[in-house]
Amino acid sequence: MTGKTKKAGGLAGITAGQTAIATVGAEGKGLSYRGYSIHDLTEHASFEEVAFLLLYGKLPNQQEFEAFETRLIGQRELPDALRQTLRAIPASAHPMDVLRTGCSMLGVLEPETRFEQQEQKAERLLACLPSMLADWYRFSHDGVEIDFESSQRSIAGFFLEKFGGREPSPTHVRAMDVSLILYAEHEFNASTFTARVCTATLSDIFSAITGAIGTLRGSLHGGANEAAMELIERFQTPDEAEAGIMEMLQEKALIMGFGHRVYTVSDPRNEIIKTWSKRLSEECGDTILYPVSERIEEVMWREKRLFPNLDFYSASVYHFLGIPTPLFTPIFVLSRVSGWSAHVFEQRSNNRLIRPGAEYIGPDETAFIPMSDRESRPS
Ligand SMILES: CC(C)(COP(=O)(O)OP(=O)(O)OC[C@H]1O[C@@H](n2cnc3c(N)ncnc32)[C@H](O)[C@@H]1OP(=O)(O)O)[C@@H](O)C(=O)NCCC(=O)NCCS
Repeated sequence: MTGKTKKAGGLAGITAGQTAIATVGAEGKGLSYRGYSIHDLTEHASFEEVAFLLLYGKLPNQQEFEAFETRLIGQRELPDALRQTLRAIPASAHPMDVLRTGCSMLGVLEPETRFEQQEQKAERLLACLPSMLADWYRFSHDGVEIDFESSQRSIAGFFLEKFGGREPSPTHVRAMDVSLILYAEHEFNASTFTARVCTATLSDIFSAITGAIGTLRGSLHGGANEAAMELIERFQTPDEAEAGIMEMLQEKALIMGFGHRVYTVSDPRNEIIKTWSKRLSEECGDTILYPVSERIEEVMWREKRLFPNLDFYSASVYHFLGIPTPLFTPIFVLSRVSGWSAHVFEQRSNNRLIRPGAEYIGPDETAFIPMSDRESRPS
């Protein structure tokens, strides 16, 4: 039993198509990407290996991996016109709006004119979305013009270095890497479905990814990690958190970072990210955030049989990595662009326009009323 009740709508429980990219691990099956368990991937692989797996359907051998990594490193630079666009965006903008705009602008400057270019465009986005985020953030907040040279080969290390302005510790790079692996793919979630609907009209990959970024922004989807951080930060002690959550539940408020459309008893990604949250908490001597998070988890299970999803402990992980809260959902983008792109490829490989029907619940057929005969309503 969970705190969830069956509700109509939202396409809940509907199988909307087929995929060979991931199984979300409902009904006791493990979450896997192309058949590889996320436990094995987060234990043994890097995010780049996982991105290759998603895009090309197999784990890369050494040679393929090195070539892929080198291609990504070589595409971190941004075109001048894109940098100028990013610089015109104020510091007060939400970073998700920045990435949505940056992705769209890249599609203007380097358009996908033939579907044969799809792999190259996906790699370009994977390589330069971190640059867009770091470039805009550092310039608009600190007046710093970053360069894209880096000693860090991985996307995780590159982003942490460019964002933080110094070399990140190997533990921090690995924590970020694991988080990117966990966020990389999740079947027909709302943003991926957006990308597939767009792709199915034979649109270009930049339009599909731009739409997906906009969908991810909402707090019922990717935005939940930021909302979870804002919640956790309100409390100074576990007891305070317990009292606060009880009050919120009485008011029937949504507790961000809990619950899931597909999972019913736990989110398999949670135990992995929670382990990292605990480890980073101990490393930095935190005595508040992790204990508060654990208490919220206990209360939510006791009161509502609701469990933390990936977003809940990701919030404290990012916080311990020194990342400001408004950048949490954009980091999700840096990772999920790999899964979205894989879905663009898969949709194109066996395409049919996605156009469901709707049950009409409006008025019966009505005679047209000339404007002069219509009732005037106070404005
Ligand atoms: C993820 C989510 C959107 C799934 O939604 P859904 O499948 O449509 O589930 P519902 O909204 O129908 O929830 C079913 C019941 O559980 C309750 N519930 C679900 N998630 C809840 C939460 N996080 N906090 C409090 N109650 C919650 C709902 O209020 C509802 O209760 P009701 O039937 O009494 O109205 C939902 O759990 C949620 O809003 N979670 C918070 C946002 C979040 O963490 N999103 C990231 C997902 S990875």
